[in-house]
Amino acid sequence: MAVSYKDLGFVNTRDMFKKAFAGKYAIPAYNFNNMEQLQAIMNACGKSKSPVILQVSAGARKYANATLLRYMGQGAIAMAKDMGYNFPVALHLDHGDTYEQCVSCIDSGFSSVMIDGSHHDYEKNIEITSKVVEYAHKHDVTVEGELGVLSGIEDDVVAAKSIYTQPEQVEDFVKKTGVDSLAISIGTSHGAYKFKPEQCTKGADGILVPPPLRFDILEEIEKRIPGFPIVLHGASSVLPQYVEMINKFGGKLDAAVGIPASELRKAATSAVCKINIDSDGRLVMTAMIRKVFAEVPKEFDPRKYLGPARDELEKMIMDKNQNVLGSAGNA
Ligand code: G3H
Ligand code: 13P
Ligand code: ZN
Repeated sequence: MAVSYKDLGFVNTRDMFKKAFAGKYAIPAYNFNNMEQLQAIMNACGKSKSPVILQVSAGARKYANATLLRYMGQGAIAMAKDMGYNFPVALHLDHGDTYEQCVSCIDSGFSSVMIDGSHHDYEKNIEITSKVVEYAHKHDVTVEGELGVLSGIEDDVVAAKSIYTQPEQVEDFVKKTGVDSLAISIGTSHGAYKFKPEQCTKGADGILVPPPLRFDILEEIEKRIPGFPIVLHGASSVLPQYVEMINKFGGKLDAAVGIPASELRKAATSAVCKINIDSDGRLVMTAMIRKVFAEVPKEFDPRKYLGPARDELEKMIMDKNQNVLGSAGNA
C-alpha cells in the first residue's frame, strides 16, 4: 500500500529551496548507504540547525535496499526528535533513471525525486521528466530534472564544451516539464577524480587547483529562468587532508582533485539551492578507518573503527553547513 512522506515526517524541497534562494545559501544533499553515515548527517544537521536532503542513489539501493533506507530515514527523524533537534528533512531519490523507479520511491514515502534524463536526447528527456512530474505532483512530491551531462574524468569534462548545460534550452525545458529544480553541468563531475592533473595549476602549498567552474553559464541560466532553483551535482571538494591521510595509511589515491570550497561558497549565494556531496563523506570515513587499522592492528570490533569514522564525518558535515553551503542556522 502506498504511503505518503507527510505521514513519515519528511518535507518536500519546495519551501527549503524558496528560503535558500532568498537567504543566499544552499541546502546540503548528502548521500547515505548505512547507519553511521545517516547518524553523522542527522547529528551534524541537528547541531548546526540546517535543513537537509537525505539522498538515496542507485548504488545505495543496490547495497542496502530502498525499503530499508526509507525506514532508516524515518527512524532518523524519530532519533533527531528524541535528541531535541528540529530541522526539515527531505528524502530524495538521487539519479532516478526510470519512471517506474520514481513512482516506486514516491509510493514508499520519498518526498522528492530526481529523474535523470540527461543521457537521453532532449525530446526524450522532456518526455520522461514530464511523466514523472505529473505523477509526483499529484502526491505533492517535488522533482529535480537534469540538463547537460556530468561525467567522470575519462570524458574530459572541461574540454568537451557540448556537455555543459546549454542556457538556451533551460526555459523551454522547465516550462514543458514542470520540474521544481534543475541540475546543471558547469564543470563539476562525480567521484574523486574530477580533473586531470594537467588541467590544474599548483597552489602555493603544492595542492592541485582545478580550472574554475563556468559561472558565466550559470549566470546566463539565471537570466533565463529567474528565481528558479538550480542544483549542483558532483560538488565534493575531495578534501586534501583526507586524501593525504588515506595515502599515509596505505591507500593509493593519486591526483584526486575536487571543487574548491570557495567555488561552492560562491555558487551557494547564487541560484544554486542544492549542493550534492557524497565522495567527501566516503573519503572521510575511509581515512579514519585506515587510521584505526594502521594504528591499532589488533582491533576487530566494527564499532571501534566505524565510530571514529562517523564522528569525523559529523565534523566534516558541520563544517560544510557552516562554512561552505551556509545552510547552518536556517532550520
Ligand atoms: O551520483 C552519484 C553518487 O555519488 C552515488 O553513487 O551510485 O555509487 O552510490 P553510487
Ligand atoms: P560527488 O561525487 O562530488 O560527491 O557528487 C555526488 C553527487 O552528485 C550525488 O548525486
Ligand atoms: Zn549526482
